[in-house]
Amino acid sequence: MRGSMNRSKASRSAGNVAVSRADLQTLVVDARGRTLDLVRDLSDEQFRVPLLRTINPFLWEIGHIAFFQEYWVLRNAAGRSPMIADGEGLYDSAKVAHDSRWHLPLPTRADTVRYMEEVRDRVLDNLSCDSYFVLLSIFHEDMHDEAFLITRQTLSYPVPPALKVTDAPAVNISAVGDISIPGGDYRIGSSADEEFIFDNEKWMHTVNVRPFRIARSLVTQDEFRTFIDATGSPHPVYWKRDANGAWLRRHFDRWISLEPDRPVSNISWSEADAYCRWAGRRLPTEFEWEVAARTGGCDQMFGSVWQWTSNDFLPYTGFSEDPYKEYSSPWFQTHKTLRGGAWSTRSRMMRPAYRNFYTPDRRDIWAGIRTCALD
Ligand SMILES: [Fe+2]
Repeated sequence: MRGSMNRSKASRSAGNVAVSRADLQTLVVDARGRTLDLVRDLSDEQFRVPLLRTINPFLWEIGHIAFFQEYWVLRNAAGRSPMIADGEGLYDSAKVAHDSRWHLPLPTRADTVRYMEEVRDRVLDNLSCDSYFVLLSIFHEDMHDEAFLITRQTLSYPVPPALKVTDAPAVNISAVGDISIPGGDYRIGSSADEEFIFDNEKWMHTVNVRPFRIARSLVTQDEFRTFIDATGSPHPVYWKRDANGAWLRRHFDRWISLEPDRPVSNISWSEADAYCRWAGRRLPTEFEWEVAARTGGCDQMFGSVWQWTSNDFLPYTGFSEDPYKEYSSPWFQTHKTLRGGAWSTRSRMMRPAYRNFYTPDRRDIWAGIRTCALD
């Protein structure tokens, strides 16, 4: 699991995150607080989850977050000794097969929370180590925090009481139409002078993009309902009809009416693609999406729902694995790229160059659609 250390220290980026010691301290405390906020209200019964391919047991996942941070910050960067016996055998996601996570001799919930707090406190005492690994642990925790919300949605658990933003904002339906973006050579990806980047963003390179027109707005629930009603296509996984035939959607533990102006989400790549074809449109490429994000003019590129792109998730030319080797490499070819970020995503994760990736069948993600005009 220990990766090569021959990276250039100047070559990592957190984009909009400054990495003074004070900022690192704030990030470490904030991330752990958020994690605990997202699971604190759950009963022990709710902690026991069914074995599903798309989720992890809460008890394993909270311990994994702390172990990841202990491994990379305290052991790898700060040279400390292991805090627990056989941490790798319990919590290393590259070594512990997914289905076995339901059958491990994990510490109790109380002991796991104590471990999480102890790791956090020791990290705060070791912030003079390479900040790259502290930031890696923060963003890793942010991603798992989004996964906790996805798990809670999957299992019809309630919205965590501590959560302030609980859904995607409505689309500004007055912002109709497309933004026209001229063709040309554009810089895509991230460069070595940023504070922190993920390996799949390496490196910034030139891509020739043809002229294109991209929708200012995300596709709404009402637009997607029109598509379903017109074509008889399968409805989104969290939709159903009530006794009167009206569409409802499930938001965590509640069934609510469709909200016509909110963006459609929790749809697969195939559903997104089918909508585009029906509408005489297409998904953007991830390069077009990134160019549009940098150009400006589109609404809700970030912080509403993830946006499927037409691309398979592939390495850029010049890609090489960073120390956390399993972040991207195992997932190339089989996954599709999504861009932007959802309401459930921490704002510090969202940058034009950030590439998210899921298999195209996933319907549990807050992922929706921004369309492009056909040429
Ligand atoms: Fe992880």
